Amino acid sequence: MSQPIKRVRKAVLPAAGLGTRFLPATKAQPKEMLPVVDKPLIQYSVEECVASGIDHIIIITGRRKNAIEDHFDSAPELERHLEEHGRPLMAEQIRQITSGIHFSYTRQSEALGLGHAVLLARELVGDEPFAVLLGDVIHDGRVPATKALVDVHQKTGQGAITVEEVPPEKVHLYGIVDAVPEPNLGFGDRLFRVRDVIEKPSREHAPSNFAVTGRYILPPEVFEYIENTKPGRNGEIQLTDALRMLAKEQGLWAYNYDGSTYDAGDKLGFLRATVEMALKNPELGPSFREYLQGLKL
Ligand code: UTP
Repeated sequence: MSQPIKRVRKAVLPAAGLGTRFLPATKAQPKEMLPVVDKPLIQYSVEECVASGIDHIIIITGRRKNAIEDHFDSAPELERHLEEHGRPLMAEQIRQITSGIHFSYTRQSEALGLGHAVLLARELVGDEPFAVLLGDVIHDGRVPATKALVDVHQKTGQGAITVEEVPPEKVHLYGIVDAVPEPNLGFGDRLFRVRDVIEKPSREHAPSNFAVTGRYILPPEVFEYIENTKPGRNGEIQLTDALRMLAKEQGLWAYNYDGSTYDAGDKLGFLRATVEMALKNPELGPSFREYLQGLKL
């Protein structure tokens, strides 16, 4: 008899990278703590986890990243101060940041790549499927991106990643999937069976223009694949090789996310995220729109 599909309860948020694309802002502070409108970047990922049914979050931190742990610690003094000064709603917002979530931390002492960072969560994850969310990428849409992947995993029992279409002249900047549509599993034209993942192919050699964007559901066997991955040219252990093995040996699905994706670890992506999230913000949106319309460019 086949085993029941295990529920995804845990998520790994790698946040130990050097953030070189965002220097000098990231010299002494984590890029995951840069605020987009009124929240640090990584809080968007944590909220996405909660909205996707995940309640144990494992953050991979490193040197200069203490502010992340402080942000997700409870702050009774601050809450008391806000309550005593007539700001109970703000006190409640602060409480909600950590409410009902179990946080664990482990450190990556050297930024040896995304695959290496994920491998460090092995013991905390244990023998169950888990999510990975890149802490500098915001996915914004009607259904949270991780929730969409959880649904694919529930249906297939296999790993799943989000992808989005990028212009052909930009495929060399991303991991690109070689994938075939699977219209018969209830996800319309958004689901693809992954045959392979190619890291930063040239335009001529790209098997598609669907790029891997930063949300994953992975089975625990992926740790073994990462362990067997050799460091690449830059000495980093990437996740792509493990995804390729997963696709070939167990099965992997790509879900074309129905929403916006912002790579906010990049200066332009960060500005896009800030402007668009501010426009969508119920409190700030109307006056910010008015301000933008009044700009003489
Ligand atoms: P990025 O490649 O976007 O992050 O990795 P980076 O290396 O910090 O950025 P640049 O290219 O130098 O500007 C995606 C995510 O993986 C984490 C990063 O913190 C980021 O959230 N990461 C990356 C690690 O945790 N460890 C690593 O060794 C590399």
